[in-house]
Amino acid sequence: MSLYDNIQETAAFITEGIKNKPVVGIVLGSGLGGLVEKVEVEAEIAYKDIPHFPISTVKGHAGKLIFGNMGGKRVVMMAGRFHYYEGYTMQEVTFPIRVMKALGAETLIVSNAAGCMNVNYKVGDILLIQDHINLFPEHPLRGANDERLGVRFQDMSEPYDPQLIAIAESIAKKQDLALRKGVYVGLQGPTFETRAEYHMLHVIGGDVVGMSTVPEVIVARHSGMKVFAASVITDMGIRDELNTISHEEVLAAANAAAPKLAALVAEMVAAM
Ligand code: HPA
Repeated sequence: MSLYDNIQETAAFITEGIKNKPVVGIVLGSGLGGLVEKVEVEAEIAYKDIPHFPISTVKGHAGKLIFGNMGGKRVVMMAGRFHYYEGYTMQEVTFPIRVMKALGAETLIVSNAAGCMNVNYKVGDILLIQDHINLFPEHPLRGANDERLGVRFQDMSEPYDPQLIAIAESIAKKQDLALRKGVYVGLQGPTFETRAEYHMLHVIGGDVVGMSTVPEVIVARHSGMKVFAASVITDMGIRDELNTISHEEVLAAANAAAPKLAALVAEMVAAM
């Protein structure tokens, strides 16, 4: 079966289990699961029960699709995402995005935890991703292109929708929430970066760095979805003292900032 057929089969399976088609898809990144509390949940489907879905392995990631109503909009949320570093193929990492689109989602909202190379920003800040640099070693669109899914050579001049960024900024102003904006560098991990690598990522134009998001955003753009993405800054990559970074530290910082991002995204969805 082709990728296209698998997507259709998965979407048909899910459609049987939900009452309303989602218009917005949301990927809940590390420690940002709190957004779930803002949703009137209508249905949940565990990844393990969904045909063609990979299964989530990272601890702290639940591994289910959540369908419901948020701010008057039908949403589908991915609680638990698939990272390339876990060993999944790029097609597996991005398959749920294809399915969200097939279900009816026209907009994708993605969050992540990120390390920071911009010394003017600090841990706990929320950064709206304006652009990205793709340093993953593999590309989700590599291989034969199925025109039913998107074009062969995808334009990437403006992957992050400026209108959605503007909406986020105006809501943040009302919420008295300071936002950063910048460039996200996506690379495979699973190691955090060396000092020399953080320095290089800054030199090439990156503000923050993480191990996700870029594959999903590429596929969302390829399938014609509008994209909004935000990072929670969980650690500073560039600082004078010895900077060790642990997964626990990243999760703690992401969890601490989560309510701010959840409030922002909830208002955004209502305003979209
Ligand atoms: N580097 C890469 N990925 C990350 C980081 C980091 O410093 N923090 C959170 N995810």
